[in-house]
Amino acid sequence: MAALYTGKEVDTAVISKLYPTRSHTGAAQGGIGAALGNLEEDHWEWHAFDTVKGGDYLSDQDVVEVMCKDAIDIVYELEHMGLPFDRTSEGRISQRRFGGHTNNKTKKAVMRTCNAADRTGHMILQTLYQQCIKNNVNFFDEFQVVDLIFEEGECRGVVAYEILTGELHVFHAKGVMIATGGWGRVWSVTSNALTLTGDLNAILLRNGYPMEDMEFFQFHPTGLHKLGILITEAVRGEGGVLINSEGERFMNRYAPTVKDLASRDVVSRAIYLELQAGKGINGERYVHLDITPETVNHYFKEDDARAVDGKLRSITAEYVQEKLEDISDFCETYLGIEPTKDPIPVHPTAHYAMGGIPTDVDSRVFSDENNTILSGLYSAGECACISVHGANRLGSNSLLDLVVFGKRGGHVMVQEVKEKEFGKIDAQKAIDKVQAEFDAILNSKGQNSPNEIREEMQILMTDKVSVFRTKEGMQESVAKLRKLKERFKSIKVSDTSKCFNLELLEAWEVGCMLDLALVTAKSALARQESRGAHAREDYTERDDANWLKHTIAFLNSDGSITLKYKPVTVTKYKPQKRVY
Ligand code: FUM
Repeated sequence: MAALYTGKEVDTAVISKLYPTRSHTGAAQGGIGAALGNLEEDHWEWHAFDTVKGGDYLSDQDVVEVMCKDAIDIVYELEHMGLPFDRTSEGRISQRRFGGHTNNKTKKAVMRTCNAADRTGHMILQTLYQQCIKNNVNFFDEFQVVDLIFEEGECRGVVAYEILTGELHVFHAKGVMIATGGWGRVWSVTSNALTLTGDLNAILLRNGYPMEDMEFFQFHPTGLHKLGILITEAVRGEGGVLINSEGERFMNRYAPTVKDLASRDVVSRAIYLELQAGKGINGERYVHLDITPETVNHYFKEDDARAVDGKLRSITAEYVQEKLEDISDFCETYLGIEPTKDPIPVHPTAHYAMGGIPTDVDSRVFSDENNTILSGLYSAGECACISVHGANRLGSNSLLDLVVFGKRGGHVMVQEVKEKEFGKIDAQKAIDKVQAEFDAILNSKGQNSPNEIREEMQILMTDKVSVFRTKEGMQESVAKLRKLKERFKSIKVSDTSKCFNLELLEAWEVGCMLDLALVTAKSALARQESRGAHAREDYTERDDANWLKHTIAFLNSDGSITLKYKPVTVTKYKPQKRVY
């Protein structure tokens, strides 16, 4: 979205380690939130309140208001670009229920999530890519950015590794936007693609710039059993229910009003507690997500939260197949089950980083806890922390975040780069720095396997920095991560060739993830409260008196971490106890 807006006015390059339409935005299934009110009453102010409440009051409320207000126009803008949304019977954009999105009067789930079946992110990605091509944006596909160039306190470009040739290239720029997504691969069970390793976030940390609120990492309640592949919240939005080994729809106990459509942190914790209580299916660590028409229609009858305008709905197998086609395919391909006939085995899966690169409402990057602007650098989407999602993001607000703030950032970049000349850089120095880093990996005589280090990190983070956390678990994680970082200094890769040396790049990515894992664990250990996705067994309550503040974490050159804090912006929504 940013490239589209800059591409219309200034020379723009998109540099991506993937072919762009393979970006993980394409994996976002259920939809994009906007209070269009196409099927029932809705208002952007309700959307804003739900976002703040969903974020457990850590969101900066001024930016939430911007996002939820802009949401309506931006969805129509996408529609006018050609995005093939599903339609209501009257031809309007179709909307469905999603967790934490409510009618603020009745407190019941509201149809706010605009969708194209269960492949909304894919459609957004394709639409924007086509628009970028039309508007002469230059794409450098399979060029992996491996460093940022800073001179005189300003970002003036990037160094990228051409995956096909192994050549390093310098892109000299007046403005750089980072839009590289998350780092779910730090955990072993994740909905995230293999490429989501947080490279640019780690590069910023290594250059002395901070990350915000890294302790808040979201676990999506419904990942496919063992694999973690996303099974969209739209399954529950369309009427699906979570069932334990006793055949009980257990969300009735945890969220009596919205039930299965509570916010993700609440549902993920409920599933963990059911599993801990021995109520996993067949004694295993999963529950059932049931979208079979028989079950759904049964609950529609007893659950008037599912009624529209007083009329009870019912669904058919054909409806499920049409609205949830992709996840039906996933279930069949990976587990050999048909969701219209069989319940889906699911458990929480590492999904989304609420934290990241601190930015302002126009995607400008902050270099410290005092909100000092880092000239020349912008960031939007999951890698950034603006912070709209606070301690827990609502489903369908991520696609919204990236288009709203991508567009705002694009606009501001155009204004700012038009007013400046190229700053001086030393291209050779920038290349030599990265070459030295890569040579150290290629020429290392060490014996440690980067794959083993990555796996140990992933298992550690999945066990100890997960849905529930304890002081001991996080302390252990910090200590072990430090040891893994030591071991990483003497790794070995066997492929030393230039062409498509993915072994080298994957090893380098392990180093990035270790830094991000360490900053996450340290930030989490310091926060002595439970809020949103950060649920501590030793500090079970939210503590607004001491912790209504953002963490700003710096990685020092000696490997230590400094934590600073800055206030949360509260406008009209005073922190309250959350009840769903
Ligand atoms: O459940 C989903 O479809 C995921 C959407 C999101 O993370 O916003």
